[in-house]
Amino acid sequence: MNVDEAAGVFTDPRAYADNERFYAATAVLRRESPVHRVDHPRFLPFWAITRHDDVMEIARDSQLWINAPRPALGPRSQREGAPEDIPIRALVQMDAPDHPVYRHISADWFKPAGVRKLADRIAELAKRYVDQLAEFGGECDFFQDIAANYPLYVIMSLLGLPEEDFPRMLKLTQELFGANDADLARNTENSAFMETMLDFFNYFQKLITDRRANPTDDLASVIANATPRGELIGELEAIGYYVLIATAGHDTTSSALAGGLHALLQYPDQWRRLADDPGLVPTAFEEMIRWVSPVKQFMRTATADTSVRGVPIAKGESVLLSYPSANRDEDVFEHPDRFDVGRSPNRHVAFGFGAHYCLGTHLARLEGRALYAELVPRIREIELAGPVEYMETLFVGGPKKLPIRFKMA
Ligand code: HEM
Repeated sequence: MNVDEAAGVFTDPRAYADNERFYAATAVLRRESPVHRVDHPRFLPFWAITRHDDVMEIARDSQLWINAPRPALGPRSQREGAPEDIPIRALVQMDAPDHPVYRHISADWFKPAGVRKLADRIAELAKRYVDQLAEFGGECDFFQDIAANYPLYVIMSLLGLPEEDFPRMLKLTQELFGANDADLARNTENSAFMETMLDFFNYFQKLITDRRANPTDDLASVIANATPRGELIGELEAIGYYVLIATAGHDTTSSALAGGLHALLQYPDQWRRLADDPGLVPTAFEEMIRWVSPVKQFMRTATADTSVRGVPIAKGESVLLSYPSANRDEDVFEHPDRFDVGRSPNRHVAFGFGAHYCLGTHLARLEGRALYAELVPRIREIELAGPVEYMETLFVGGPKKLPIRFKMA
């Protein structure tokens, strides 16, 4: 495979659905062309960055490398034919001086102390989902039935939404933000889609009005009443914030949970190791995040002429930070292609790095650890019950079908 063929994986949603192809291609790029220019007729040109050190170096310097004009490779970066993203400006589209101000609004909530307040609620939800698994009576689709729902319920709890609204929210987020996979595709032109959009906006508008009139101690209230730059946050901005939190915290964690179980079933010795020593749950979940790398890329754009690893990059050109590639970098990880539930240290960059470093890391870890701490001891036997399929995506993804057969302990 030559380097240009290899770089085709970044613009082909099917490549992310085929782990073998993706990791073989990015190994070639790391070795032979770690800063590689990609010219594709459907996208504006960009440089693919595949090595861990380079991803970190770029992410560290948020003055030289900004998010705003092109935060990720997606519809907005395409030359033609794709629908625009929803017109909401969220944290990932911001740079200083706005970014730190808006990030600060919710930052305390995501710190360990803030998230710990949710620990009991999350443990309760984890137990509920494992109980539900038991009720499937020995077979289910772990992604569809468990992993796709549990993280959204955690986020709804974080925002402080009442439980009776959860199913409606689940439907809305799936319809509006489903991955760009044919199986999950939506027709954004039809009136049903417009209705869903309206329902979504109405729901959050009502939430804002309500939390302004009766502030409580939940995150929804903090956002609705935030005063960035001394003035009450705009309604659209507040909605954008809710949407960011709901979407950033949902598919990412679902993918890590389901892809993590897939890895445990592909390497049954690792399942047994974890079952014999549940103290390994924290390192095991961290390894699942490295292994799956649910966020496939973010981009940065150069504010001045510069170079990466000696390759000149002009002001205004964009780089794509390939987190899954960086997380298999042989210079940083011992046996990077080995799934190791005890891996330590584990310097993965699946949560990004620098000014935009994932706000939800503590929450994601709490969720993942809670689910696996509950699941592993309660399962006696478990195996795959059919072919596993991964999502076609350019942005966030993991398994979309994970059929399992199991016996409870
Ligand atoms: C940003 C990954 C879970 C909220 C990010 C970024 C990555 C990421 C790669 C961009 C970082 C950068 O540009 O340097 C993940 C992964 C998750 C996860 C792999 C699960 C395994 C969550 C959860 C939440 C969340 C549970 C919250 C409910 C956010 C927010 C941002 C973000 C708000 C934007 C931060 C900013 O731009 O300042 N995440 N995330 N994430 N994440 Fe996560």
